[in-house]
Amino acid sequence: MTALRVALLGCGTVGTEVVRLLREQADDLAARVGVPLELAGIAVRRLDKRREGVPAELLTTDAMGLVTSDDVDIVVEVIGGFEPARGLLLAAMKAGKSVVTANKALLAEDGATLFGAAREYGADIYYEASVAGAIPLLRPLRESLVGDHVHRVMGIVNGTTNYILDQMDTSGAGFAEALNEAQALGYAEADPTADVEGFDAAAKAAILAQLAFHTRVTAAGVHREGIADVTSADIASAKAMGCVVKLLAICERVPSEEHRAGRGVSVRVHPVMIPRSHPLASVREAYNAVFVEAESAGSLMFYGAGAGGAPTASAVLGDIVAVARNRVYGARGPAESTYAELPVLPMADTVTRYHVALDVADRSGVLARVADAFAEKDVSIQAVRQEGHGDEAQLVIVTHRAPDGALSATIERLRDLEIVRAVASVMRVEGDD
Ligand code: NDP
Ligand code: HSE
Repeated sequence: MTALRVALLGCGTVGTEVVRLLREQADDLAARVGVPLELAGIAVRRLDKRREGVPAELLTTDAMGLVTSDDVDIVVEVIGGFEPARGLLLAAMKAGKSVVTANKALLAEDGATLFGAAREYGADIYYEASVAGAIPLLRPLRESLVGDHVHRVMGIVNGTTNYILDQMDTSGAGFAEALNEAQALGYAEADPTADVEGFDAAAKAAILAQLAFHTRVTAAGVHREGIADVTSADIASAKAMGCVVKLLAICERVPSEEHRAGRGVSVRVHPVMIPRSHPLASVREAYNAVFVEAESAGSLMFYGAGAGGAPTASAVLGDIVAVARNRVYGARGPAESTYAELPVLPMADTVTRYHVALDVADRSGVLARVADAFAEKDVSIQAVRQEGHGDEAQLVIVTHRAPDGALSATIERLRDLEIVRAVASVMRVEGDD
């Protein structure tokens, strides 16, 4: 039978491993697909770079020529970023190729154009590697759970920030030192601010929410806060409470009495304190873990390597086999599903809980005035304790659940109080209510 020809766009951390697996597992892959998979070419930026295990004769800088070649059936994009990746994927689908991409930034920014092209040209577009590296997560959401009603998807989807927070928590490492290590291990994006500022996790949250809720969600609809402002004081405060700080992506239906589907969806990425007894608290280093809560299935947890060349290449290979099988059998994978069209709600409408540490004057009446500020905004306090005395006095307050808008307005009110010397730490709390 005729082989299927694969064009690889990009040969960096992920691409190099895709080449290795395609070559080392060629016989098994051929048996699983039904026909051999052959590398037709590898587009890169620099031809003179040393690449261990990559056949030099396959390298080219003419990516557009490669994707539109009649000699190519499947295009795998692991360049990253917006252009030229978007133009190359669109040209590939227009030319009748099946495409596989790991590019969450592009999918979350302009998925509509990519999925529109897939529909128009009858092309397959698979992207399992774009969220949580090796962990099979998108296929379960898109296929296994498609008959269920998903309420919530919550988890750690960025390996770099989890690595940094874990190092800060366990070894007391500084932020910069931990980031350097994550970069050296191949976890970080080309521009690590995408990890640190939460852009990478926000893109993944948009992809997860779109699949879970059958609603178009773009990166712009995701409330995003990174970990750059997480201080060692926050880490210490979390420890004192028996918690750990994690950067979580949280996608949830906001309930409504009238509509079973919910009033809308809330999609957010921000640091949270979670109890050390929570399963997400034990997710160490660059590992990822995601909880899915669905009506009939109940709670499911997905855990594994969320970044790195080989784990990500495993997910890419799974997609290559899937689209190759579709070509062999003349079938197509599931199309994009956004029929529910739920509104994406602003962060102010999302119900959360806050942990607040306030440096305060140590005298009578202070606690009452602080409590008044919470009461004014209708925010109920769950627990309060004082740490230190005199100039060191700090009030640590944990709230009950309240709209995020009311909680943030309370913080603004507290900043104005003359008895509050400083708002030392504000962080949302998840997982123990
Ligand atoms: P790298 O930066 O390591 O590799 C990028 C590759 O793209 C390089 O080979 C580079 O060429 C090539 N490239 C860049 N610009 C062009 C261009 N204009 N034309 C042709 N080739 C070009 O990225 P990663 O492998 O880390 O990531 C690739 C994708 O996978 C990204 O979308 C990323 O978000 C995603 N991803 C990465 C994970 C990871 O752990 N690294 C995990 C999950 C997803 P050259 O080698 O010549 O510089
Ligand atoms: N930079 C990403 C991370 C790679 O750290 O998780 C995986 O998408």
